[in-house]
Amino acid sequence: MIKEAIQRAFNEQIKKELDSAYLYLSMAAYFDSQNLEGMAHWMKLQAKEEFKHAMKFYEHINERGGRVELFSLERPVKEWAGPFEVFKHVYEHEQKVTASIYNLVELSKKENDHAAYNFLQWFVNEQIEEESSASKILQTIEKIKDSPVGIIMMDRELAKRE
Ligand code: FEO
Repeated sequence: MIKEAIQRAFNEQIKKELDSAYLYLSMAAYFDSQNLEGMAHWMKLQAKEEFKHAMKFYEHINERGGRVELFSLERPVKEWAGPFEVFKHVYEHEQKVTASIYNLVELSKKENDHAAYNFLQWFVNEQIEEESSASKILQTIEKIKDSPVGIIMMDRELAKRE
């Protein structure tokens, strides 16, 4: 049986993962409004990834006899100054998610919950990947952000994400 403190924190993390999905979907809508379909495609896939993350917490709570509880989502930002600002936001957002996962790891240690600790290791590794991919895109966009041709080439590059 899952402990109350872990259940509460995991339910809060479901909301955070869905907030991330909602934020990335809002970024996709922004890019679609700018006719940057490759970047919109990248964001739509990212939103799906975040939904999968939320469902991992959902299933873990259920498997351990807990009760999933859903909270209201944050209304996401709708406009950005350009692609550089969007990906800067992604990178900063992922750093906050990493901090949130680390807090959960600390809680699992404090509660002596080895199952939760073990489960969270997937997310610890996933956050390395999430921060790394956002950081790489951000660094590239920083170099080409004042060039419309550069932005179009970057858009075509991000369209390739599978
Ligand atoms: Fe669910 Fe982007 O971390």
